Amino acid sequence: MAAALLLLLLGPACGLRETGVFEAASALSGLVAGGSGNASRAWRDAELPVLLWWSEQLFPHFPGRSERIDCGAGASCLVTRSKRALAHRRTAALIFYGTDFRAYEAPLPRAPHHTWALFHEESPMNNYLLSQAAAIRLFNYTATFRRHSHYPLALQWLPAAAYLRAPPALPLATKNRLRRLGLAPVLYLQSHCQVASDRDRYVRLLMEHLQ
Ligand SMILES: *[C@@H]1O[C@H](CO)[C@@H](O)[C@H](O)[C@H]1NC(C)=O
Ligand SMILES: *[C@@H]1O[C@H](CO)[C@@H](O)[C@H](O)[C@H]1NC(C)=O
Repeated sequence: MAAALLLLLLGPACGLRETGVFEAASALSGLVAGGSGNASRAWRDAELPVLLWWSEQLFPHFPGRSERIDCGAGASCLVTRSKRALAHRRTAALIFYGTDFRAYEAPLPRAPHHTWALFHEESPMNNYLLSQAAAIRLFNYTATFRRHSHYPLALQWLPAAAYLRAPPALPLATKNRLRRLGLAPVLYLQSHCQVASDRDRYVRLLMEHLQ
């Protein structure tokens, strides 16, 4: 309420429209005005850009529906998972979770000042749409398993760099010996069949060239 009251005190000329925004469309009034009872802090929060987590199942900022994030070097924002914030004039960016992204649920029409970001850490087979260039280009920033995304997550679950540097399970000399015995010392493992990249067919073809 503090933010709304402040706006009312500023007078009808500049206050009315803003008050309307806070009362009708802002999901953030609870955040900017509630809780601390610290009016000066609340007022400054009310000027911060808003980051809207469109996929609300994934909202890592517990416990509430909205939170203030300070990233250091004076960079702060409000984050929320409340879709009512879409209409808010300070909402600058939307974050989508790849597996849950559905084109028919996308917030359209898209406002020119809305930056779209995609967080897609799971298997490409969870959402084939995002393996298409036309779809991935809808997002201004991407964090995906692809190493060419803006913030690649290719090594996200890597326990440590040493895991990559660990020696192979079998020395090359042993593999070469097995090869002379007519065995192909290559093991291919995958978690799913028939994924969109058609890797099954690629591996079948590759097997013809292994000896
Ligand atoms: C209000 O918040 C400001 C900024 O975080 C802080 O400096 C100030 O000490 C707070 N005042 C009270 C009474 O908590
Ligand atoms: C974000 O991407 C959309 C769609 O490609 C584009 O129209 C818009 O200009 C981009 N915004 C920024 C700030 O780059």
